[in-house]
Amino acid sequence: MVFTSLLALLSAVAVLAAPSATEEPQLFRRQAVSSGTGTVDGYYYSLYEEVDSGVTMNIGSGEYSLTWTASSVDVVAGIGWATGSAQAISYNGTFSPNGNAYLSVYGWTTSPLVEYYICDSYGDYNPSTGLTQVGTVTSDGGTYDVYQTVRTNAPSIQGTATFNQYWSVRTSHRVGGTITTSNHFNAWKSFGMEMGSFNYQILATEGYESSGSSSIAVSGGAAAPSNPQPTSTPPPTSTPPSNPGSGTVAHYGQCGGIGWTGGTVCAAPYTCKVSNAYYSQCL
Ligand SMILES: *[C@@H]1O[C@H](CO)[C@@H](O)[C@H](O)[C@H]1NC(C)=O
Repeated sequence: MVFTSLLALLSAVAVLAAPSATEEPQLFRRQAVSSGTGTVDGYYYSLYEEVDSGVTMNIGSGEYSLTWTASSVDVVAGIGWATGSAQAISYNGTFSPNGNAYLSVYGWTTSPLVEYYICDSYGDYNPSTGLTQVGTVTSDGGTYDVYQTVRTNAPSIQGTATFNQYWSVRTSHRVGGTITTSNHFNAWKSFGMEMGSFNYQILATEGYESSGSSSIAVSGGAAAPSNPQPTSTPPPTSTPPSNPGSGTVAHYGQCGGIGWTGGTVCAAPYTCKVSNAYYSQCL
């Protein structure tokens, strides 16, 4: 994504911030929020503007609406979970961009640090333009092209860093349906695109130098049909899946190769490098 260190700052604050407590019981509320993060009606939200032009997101009862203009330069807004998981996320609503915009499940993992998008619809610019295609995923009645790129010295939830960015881009656009995120996470893993511990995960509208509006309702929490983390055990229903970064391989340790059944995720900041078909090492 195109964003500045402000987002990293906001995100870092979000990690530390406790959900805002409201003493009101289960009353339906619609709340207008401006740039920042928090929790409304049990859903985590994040609203980022590269240039603060006073955009607000209306949130209530598992849905949000957003109207943006190019004066924000880059705007990313959505609701979801902190933390995310390999869950099935259902959503419906409207997405009406004028120009460059994406509608995606969007999130981050740490150790390794990864920024990811599962993009169901976009405006007049394909976000994978110029990226190297890794493969395809068939999921939820569609085909998604998979891309990976490296963001070098870019802003992140851990400050300026170099990290992988993963994309699944649906070849036929849609607005509404279920995104079985585990299908993407499993496919990415099979392509060697490792993920770490889940950070936040939202159903995001992103507009870049464009205008438009969206109105999106989300629901989630459906158990993943299969868990991409071979070392994890079934979690209690009220907690997110086990940390996929647990049991990471130390510096110089083996992390892959034909016949290898051990860990495949390197401890930060190392990454798994192929030495030959039988041996990959954390370097
Ligand atoms: C989502 O679908 C439900 C059920 O049809 C509908 O009531 C709701 O208005 C929709 N939400 C949005 C944001 O379109």
